[in-house]
Parts: sequence; structure tokens; C-alpha cells
Amino acid sequence: MSKVSIGFIGAGNMAGSLIRGMIARGTPADTISVADLDSTKIDQLVAELGVVGSSNDAISSSADVIVLAVKPQVMADVCKALPLNGRDALVISVAAGITLSHMQDWLGEDTAIVRCMPNTPALVGQGATGLFANGHTSAEQKQIAQEMLDAVGISAWVNSEAEIDAVTALSGSGPAYYFLFMEAMQEAGLELGLDEKLVREFAIQTALGAAILANKSEDDIAELRRKVTSPGGTTERALQNFEAGGLRELVKQSLKAARDRSQELAAEFGAK
Ligand SMILES: NC(=O)c1ccc[n+]([C@@H]2O[C@H](COP(=O)([O-])OP(=O)(O)OC[C@H]3O[C@@H](n4cnc5c(N)ncnc54)[C@H](OP(=O)(O)O)[C@@H]3O)[C@@H](O)[C@H]2O)c1
Repeated sequence: MSKVSIGFIGAGNMAGSLIRGMIARGTPADTISVADLDSTKIDQLVAELGVVGSSNDAISSSADVIVLAVKPQVMADVCKALPLNGRDALVISVAAGITLSHMQDWLGEDTAIVRCMPNTPALVGQGATGLFANGHTSAEQKQIAQEMLDAVGISAWVNSEAEIDAVTALSGSGPAYYFLFMEAMQEAGLELGLDEKLVREFAIQTALGAAILANKSEDDIAELRRKVTSPGGTTERALQNFEAGGLRELVKQSLKAARDRSQELAAEFGAK
């Protein structure tokens, strides 16, 4: 990756996280250039990280890898204005809901494109990203994309572009599901008479502890749950209540709803 020049179009939250992660893993800062409508965002990354300030045009006419890190709403206009001129560059998109077919229409049919679905924990180096490449992308280009996303968490290639909508439902929107659960635990803790500061800290620490335990353990998640559920104990009573309330089915229905919304959004963005 060190010899490859990488240009970021859009220098916001996601671009900043990716760039910080890449530099922490050894990508030389002077191989990374950034462009944004807001020059203060460029200046900030240049001052903080030593990357090179640039423009959309300069990046699209010279970078080996062009990372599109703008909001989905502006992707069509940004792509249509890029003078790629049939160049053999890799385009990586982190924009939710923008399909490969739309990007090929806007950038040129033969463009090598990797579509990614990262999530917000990427901002703290703990992301989970699904990746899918079109048929014009080489094995080397796929490796470049994966190394970039691995710098901010874990990543995996999915088998079809449709699976990106499922990844969106699972991990893209997933952090909000855990926030909701933590919120509900906080409210319940308060109702049980606990202190406000304590319930916040303990709700977060319990989620973090459970995630780290599951990550380090060889047991599957169901087995971990069984191990903390003594027959006749408190955990069993609570879990029986969750099951009786239909939690599992609710989670399945909710992820399907998110997957369906992801498909709808893709259709809406493409129509613009
Ligand atoms: N943040 C996340 O955790 C996350 C997770 C998953 C996916 N994503 C995806 O990542 C992409 C970027 O999200 P973000 O949170 O980083 O957004 P952001 O912080 O708003 O950054 C986007 C930047 O692009 C700039 N921009 C807009 N139009 C431009 C143009 N024509 N040329 C150059 N720069 C332009 C924006 O400037 P202005 O503010 O002046 O418009 C802004 O600074 C989105 O497509 C989003 O779907 C983000």
C-alpha cells in the first residue's frame, strides 16, 4: 500500500478516521491527499496528520485510489464531475445506498469500484465493514481496499451486492440497536433506584465486557449465554421474560425492516 497514491474526496468524519487508521498502520502521510468543499477540514487534516491538501479534479486525474467519502445525497453530482477520462484508478465508495451500477453510470462502465458499508465505531478504530467489488477490480486493488478498511476495525467481502443491504441492517445500523438496549437498561436501572452516573457507566461497561468476552472466547454466543444462566437464578428469570416478550422475533423483523429500507434508499439515490 505504501507506493500507492490515495486521494480522499470529502474530508469529514469517515475520511478522517480512515486516514488516521491508515497512518497509524504505516501508510506514509505524503501518499494521501484530501479534498473537500470546506477548506478548513483540509487544513485540519494537513496540520494534524501531514497529508497533502488537494482538489477533486487533481485527485481524480492522478490518484491510484480515489476514496469517495461524501454524503450519499451528493454522490451523483460528485461522480459526474470527476474527470476520470478512462484512467485505470480504483474508486472506493463508503456511501450508504449508492450501488455499483449507479456509480458505473456516473463514472464510466469500466471503472474499478469497491463499495463498502462501514459503521460508526470505525471512528474509534472498532468498525465492521462489508465490502463488494465490481468485475473490473483486480485482486491487488481489492487488497488495497481491504487493508484500508481493516485499519479502522474488521472487514469482510460479501458474496453479492445485495448482501450489502443485509450488512447495512446488521452492522451499519447495528450500533444504534445496542445504544437503544443500553438506554433501556439505564432507564430500568434508574427505576430500580440506582444512581444516574452508575447506571450509565455500568450499562456501557456491561455491553463492552460482554462484547470483549464473546470476542475472546472460543464458545459460541449461545453457549456464553447459557454459562451465565444458572437454573432458577436471576438471569434465567430475566431471559424468560425477554423470550416471552418476543425479543428474538422482534430483532429479526427489525433487521428485515432495515434491509428493506436500505434497498428503498438505493432506488431513491439512483433515481437522482
Ligand atoms: N460517519 C460514519 O460513521 C459512516 C458510517 C457508514 C458510512 N458512512 C458514509 O461515509 C460518507 C461520509 O460520511 P461522513 O460522516 O464522513 O460525512 P461528513 O462528515 O459530512 O463528510 C463529508 C464531507 O464531504 C464534503 N463534501 C460535500 N460535497 C463535496 C464535494 N462536492 N466535493 C468534496 N467534498 C464534498 C462535505 O462538506 P460540507 O459539509 O461542506 O458539505 C463534508 O466535509 C457518507 O456517504 C456516509 O454514508 C459514514
